[in-house]
Amino acid sequence: MTTRRDFLRATAGAGAGAAFGIVPTVKFEGAPAVHIRRVTPVAVASANGREAVAKAMEVLQGGGDTLDAVVQGVNIVERDPNDTSVGYGGLPNLDGVVQLDSSLMHGPTRGAGAVASLEGVKTPSLVARDVMRYTDHVLLVGPGAQEFAKSMGYPIEDLLTEESRRRWVEWRARLSDRDDFLIPEGSMRGGSGFRPESSYGDGLLDSHDGVRPQGTINCNVVNADGDISGVTTTSGLAWKIPGRVGDSPIIGAGLYVDNDVGAAGSTGRGEAVIKTVGGHSVVELMRSGMHPEDACLEALRRVVTYTVEPRLRDELGRPNFGVNYYAVNKKGEYAGAAIFAGSRFAVSVDGDTRVEDSAYLFERD
Ligand code: GLY
Repeated sequence: MTTRRDFLRATAGAGAGAAFGIVPTVKFEGAPAVHIRRVTPVAVASANGREAVAKAMEVLQGGGDTLDAVVQGVNIVERDPNDTSVGYGGLPNLDGVVQLDSSLMHGPTRGAGAVASLEGVKTPSLVARDVMRYTDHVLLVGPGAQEFAKSMGYPIEDLLTEESRRRWVEWRARLSDRDDFLIPEGSMRGGSGFRPESSYGDGLLDSHDGVRPQGTINCNVVNADGDISGVTTTSGLAWKIPGRVGDSPIIGAGLYVDNDVGAAGSTGRGEAVIKTVGGHSVVELMRSGMHPEDACLEALRRVVTYTVEPRLRDELGRPNFGVNYYAVNKKGEYAGAAIFAGSRFAVSVDGDTRVEDSAYLFERD
């Protein structure tokens, strides 16, 4: 298989933010010293983050902070009612309530903040940033997170859109043919074949509903000084058990940043990422000298190894769900990788914003 990185190597470092100079020295633990003067800034995100990486790059080019760059980027998607995997318009839980998760890390100050099961605030990443800035804590959850948000001046709003409410009502009606809910007249989706794919192909096979959307946005940047930040934000698994928390607000799982090494985050089945401490694994693998693409693929192999439950494996023994990693390192190299072929990721580098194919472990059937 020829990967995107093989191609870039063959084309002498085109893209990939490979331009970096000579001094001072940055030491990756356990790896040869890397000499950096100026890095070509890079913003990388999940495929639903094309506008986000463009915004993040605009902020970096205006001299803005790396954390402000990624947060302003994902705020676009959080506020977008048409992205049903993040923020306002995100698909709700079993009870029809939107519960949001987010985490972020600021590399230069080693800062971290997160919120989980936050209701009523469109932009959980901003609340996570306030947890980082204005508390001695890292993670606030549920009603406590909402009380904190209120105290910081956030309005509490209904996050259901007409579309996300309608999809929840249809899902509830299809849940069982032995309850009292009838499938709404004029439903566009027929029978048990309803397979609402998320915008970038993640999904958890579900016995009654085809594929349950499990979208998210992760966005990571490195600036010209080699400073790094990242953020992950999501409405989590559609129709989840109330209170279910995925990987996105868990520092080390859905996101990890080490300003000496790089940043990594995830989308897809959060339970698999939590069990393998995905974001931290990718960063540690990069610390050992791996290119971001190799690090992401190795972390995905761990997901495969940890997927032992027959209900989570396909007929070939592979995971029957998706996980994607996105990473940048301190040199400005970047990657997106997924378990299965067909995933994409957004990148802004060298004046160009585009969506690229992710590396992968397995072809789809
Ligand atoms: N990766 C998002 C979630 O599982 O909630």
